[in-house]
Amino acid sequence: MTPSETGIAQAARRMLSAKAEQFTESVIREMTRLALKHKAVNLSQGFPDFAAPAEIKEAARQAVADDINQYAITWGAKPLRDAIVEKFERTQGVRVDPEREITICCGSTEAMMSTMLAIINPGDEIVVFEPFYENYGPDAILSGATPRFVKMRPPENENSVWSFDEKELAAAFGPHTKAIILNTPNNPTGKVFTRDELEFIRDLCVRWNAFCVTDEIYEHILYDGTEHISMARIDGMRDRTIVINGMSKTYSVTGWRVGWAIAPPEPTASIRKVHDFLTVGAAAPLQQAGAIALKSPQSYYDKLASDYSVRRERLLKILSAAGFTVFKPRGAYYIMTDISRFEFPSQQFPADTRDVSFAKYLVEKIGVAVVPGSSFYNNSADGSSQVRFTFCKKESTLAAAEERLARLHA
Ligand SMILES: Cc1ncc(COP(=O)(O)O)c(C=O)c1O
Repeated sequence: MTPSETGIAQAARRMLSAKAEQFTESVIREMTRLALKHKAVNLSQGFPDFAAPAEIKEAARQAVADDINQYAITWGAKPLRDAIVEKFERTQGVRVDPEREITICCGSTEAMMSTMLAIINPGDEIVVFEPFYENYGPDAILSGATPRFVKMRPPENENSVWSFDEKELAAAFGPHTKAIILNTPNNPTGKVFTRDELEFIRDLCVRWNAFCVTDEIYEHILYDGTEHISMARIDGMRDRTIVINGMSKTYSVTGWRVGWAIAPPEPTASIRKVHDFLTVGAAAPLQQAGAIALKSPQSYYDKLASDYSVRRERLLKILSAAGFTVFKPRGAYYIMTDISRFEFPSQQFPADTRDVSFAKYLVEKIGVAVVPGSSFYNNSADGSSQVRFTFCKKESTLAAAEERLARLHA
């Protein structure tokens, strides 16, 4: 850039929001663009590359044919809110009021952002487990919350799971804590929080009068007999829990952009106002189809989990054979890996950004796109020995990845 171009760029930056300057574009979504550019097998972004269920697609076609083409009620079409109530009660035993406790949004992404904007005031802190789904960083910045990160530690062997130190978690709470952001089953670790862990978190929320905002979008993708327990179901938490969920992962329709927040009436009233002025509403015909999707029989959810279990085993084997240390997930559809066992020339792969140079090498030279571990940490060096793979892909995609990853040893 010439000096005058630099001056113009600086002047332009002064015209922009300081908040938006504090974060970058999503690394996960950037990896998908790089995968397309390099014709790589995309095991980065968590979207299925197989078809959505035929009945759900048919329901969407029918909704358009029936002229459900205008704005739905801003906080969500009644049939979908009713279906959410029925399903939440059936699966979690918690009855909520469709008129005062549900807001349908444009994906759980918007549900989370609307929630944060609805509850955060200047000076508020949120507690976030780390590694975390990358959206929570910008969610905090845009809403003005100060995050307090609490590390989860990787499992030490096949049979153990990601864990956190209770003392560290307790120390992260304080008089300024507005909420803890929980994600169970968890992206990227695959951790499924147990009842004991949830009760420990409950005690802290009660003690410090904080909300639990719990992202439960992978609620049905569970392995090894693990159970998903919503925080809303834990004694004493019904009135301080905001559940974030959506259709994307359970029905393999990430592009439909239908999600929701379930919250007590007071926060719901605020969430609805924020949501209304952010987006007015999610796509009306797809909300209609959502009402049908949520009535799927239990066999649908069982098959979803068992199909993912097969894909999990497949990718675990592929990655172990290729030389990665794998952390077996108990839920969701990602595998966090440690890349320390590979030998890296230190000039090309500097230690504190090794995950990024390795991910770049994988997508450009090996032909497989992954997400660098640093995208899940506040301090990027903390994720420099990790990369994340997803297995929400059809067998031919996983087979292509297997063939390409075999080149890592060549
Ligand atoms: C934990 C988590 N929450 C939310 C989302 C986004 O969900 P939606 O498509 O409903 O916006 C994702 C997508 O990868 C996710 O992993």
